[in-house]
Amino acid sequence: MEVRGGKTHAPRPGLPSGDPGAPAPRDEAAMVCKPGELKSIFPTVVLARRLDSILPMNGRLHEIVLEREKIDPGLGASNVGGWHSQGDLMNWDYPEIRALMRECFEAGRDMTQATLPPGVDGDIRLRFNGGCWANLLRDGGYNTVHNHAAAVWSGCYYVSLGDPDPQPNYNGWIEFQDPRPANIHSHKEKVRPEAGLLLLFPGWLNHYVNPFRGRGERISIAFNFDVEVVPRKMQAADLRAFTQGSPVG
Ligand SMILES: [Fe+2]
Repeated sequence: MEVRGGKTHAPRPGLPSGDPGAPAPRDEAAMVCKPGELKSIFPTVVLARRLDSILPMNGRLHEIVLEREKIDPGLGASNVGGWHSQGDLMNWDYPEIRALMRECFEAGRDMTQATLPPGVDGDIRLRFNGGCWANLLRDGGYNTVHNHAAAVWSGCYYVSLGDPDPQPNYNGWIEFQDPRPANIHSHKEKVRPEAGLLLLFPGWLNHYVNPFRGRGERISIAFNFDVEVVPRKMQAADLRAFTQGSPVG
């Protein structure tokens, strides 16, 4: 195990954080435990996917958010400063929004498929729970620590980063907190936003955004998904129940 600052730090896969404080990947040959001795339990998964087909649309998405800011007073949520749209972004009538929604749904299906428990299989169906909204931060704006525990997955797509000042460190970065209390291995996972990057993570995972210091607008589009896995042999009846909003299974 790597020891750093008097604590042991379990190695972790690299999110695209560029965090200079992150531990180096573990050299498997240096492991001191025998095969089968170590088991990872209760892992926390975060998907980081670059949406190459959406990235060229970011300029237009930026314009759309600024247009909507002029007509929508927004609402107060975890944001301090800035602007948080109503949660109806998924219904905004723009082709760029529809294209982004398709990519978000595909990522949600992929993440669900990749994390299904053994023996569980079926058609994966997603629906919004808590909607979809734009976050706009200007100089000094930030998001306090929060989660979206009513949803299975929460997502965040980065439209624009503004022109952040070089200091302070982690300016405008999103940080995820280890939710396990009294965990001596705990750390915060810091992720540097990148235009075109989609993050998808469990809704229960606490997160916040460091104050954005700089010029321009830091814009992200966030959403919450519920998930149903419809067993194939029950599809017809369950699909009817699902579309009528009734519990499935
Ligand atoms: Fe959030």
